[in-house]
Amino acid sequence: MALYDWKDDYSVGVTRFDNHHKRLFNIANDLHEMMKQGRGADVIEPVLRELIDYTRYHLAEEEKVMESIGYSNIVSHKMAHKVFTDQLNEAMAEVDQGKTIFVVIKIARTVIDWLINHIYVIDKKYLPEMTAAGIR
Ligand code: FEO
Repeated sequence: MALYDWKDDYSVGVTRFDNHHKRLFNIANDLHEMMKQGRGADVIEPVLRELIDYTRYHLAEEEKVMESIGYSNIVSHKMAHKVFTDQLNEAMAEVDQGKTIFVVIKIARTVIDWLINHIYVIDKKYLPEMTAAGIR
């Protein structure tokens, strides 16, 4: 069983974003499995980069749709994305400098924890306005 199982309860009511989130969970599970197996930083780091790249892509896509519907909470939602993106940039600079397995694992865990919390607490808030705008 995967550590980060997708649950229907995580659905934000927009299929494309649920699919993005599911893909992020899948990458997070791959990362967790590699960490559990004690794989080296050279194996884990490319997957961490994939997780971060896909996270950036997802956040940008979500913001485009929120803008298109004039989402009422867009300022705070975009701010949460920005704070996290800044953290990711700092973290990846750390990886580029050191690339130790400890740094890679720490960052992977930070990304995964943020994603789960963000999807469940922040993303779900847009459901009523997305539904009202006909976005599913
Ligand atoms: Fe699904 Fe606001 O990130």
